[in-house]
Amino acid sequence: MSTLGKKLFQVKEFLLFQLKAGTKHSVHSPFVFELCERVFEDARSFHGFLEIAALRKQRSAETGKVKIIELGAGSKHNIDKERSVGDLVKHVAIPEKYGKVLFKLVDVLQPCSILEMGTSIGFSGLYLHKAKPSAPMISLEGNPFVAHIAKQHFDQLDANTITINVGDFSATLGESLESLKNVGLAFIDGNHTYAATIEYFEKILPYTDEHSCIIFHDIHWSEGMRRAWDEISGDSRVVFSIDLFEMGLIFFNKGVPKQHFLLKVK
Ligand SMILES: C[S@@+](CC[C@H](N)C(=O)[O-])C[C@H]1O[C@@H](n2cnc3c(N)ncnc32)[C@H](O)[C@@H]1O
Repeated sequence: MSTLGKKLFQVKEFLLFQLKAGTKHSVHSPFVFELCERVFEDARSFHGFLEIAALRKQRSAETGKVKIIELGAGSKHNIDKERSVGDLVKHVAIPEKYGKVLFKLVDVLQPCSILEMGTSIGFSGLYLHKAKPSAPMISLEGNPFVAHIAKQHFDQLDANTITINVGDFSATLGESLESLKNVGLAFIDGNHTYAATIEYFEKILPYTDEHSCIIFHDIHWSEGMRRAWDEISGDSRVVFSIDLFEMGLIFFNKGVPKQHFLLKVK
């Protein structure tokens, strides 16, 4: 699809979401209502937010270049361009609003472990880790140059217990799952294609239990991602699915009927 076609698709998706999405007042499930109150519609601030915001501010002015490796499905992994660190902070790192959602999700769900796919320079990883530093956390990244910067950020913010496994997801995901054994929360933010997203879902699923949550970033970014999200949220093994537009969340709670929600983040 052309760049213009993709942009038009994203605008259409956004408008449809705005029309259909609700708030806590449209939710009857006690579990999802609590998520609305304590995550999606919660205005509290935490110490971790200030530290990460300060790092974001400091690094957004950084003009030093970093090599970018294109890691799309089937690409040849050539080093073909460079971007400034400031550019990565502004355009690749998770927006602050949704970083806070990640933090609060971890704070509420208290996952036994955290898996991140797509470290980049470490911002989403910091939000995930800071909410529960005691949870074992592995973050996967295929580009060693950005992973190196993420490591510096993790050291700077006292988050050096996060393990970064560098390599293509196809090489690192299996061993990381084996090492975590049980995935409490997974955040998938890399290789946004239909096939890869379905593949990661199927690979992570055997390592989840009824308390686990899997988060897919950029579910409305392309037709392929939208198709993957529709398939995953419709899967009979998934109990609750929550579309926040920026990301989609799935849960496996036992003993409750399957339900799908579209909810606004305030
Ligand atoms: C959108 S960025 C992640 C941003 C990060 N989660 C944040 O919010 O700060 C996606 C990252 O996934 C990595 N990636 C994409 N496909 C990959 C693959 N097949 N194997 C390993 N890493 C991959 C890219 O190198 C890139 O750094």
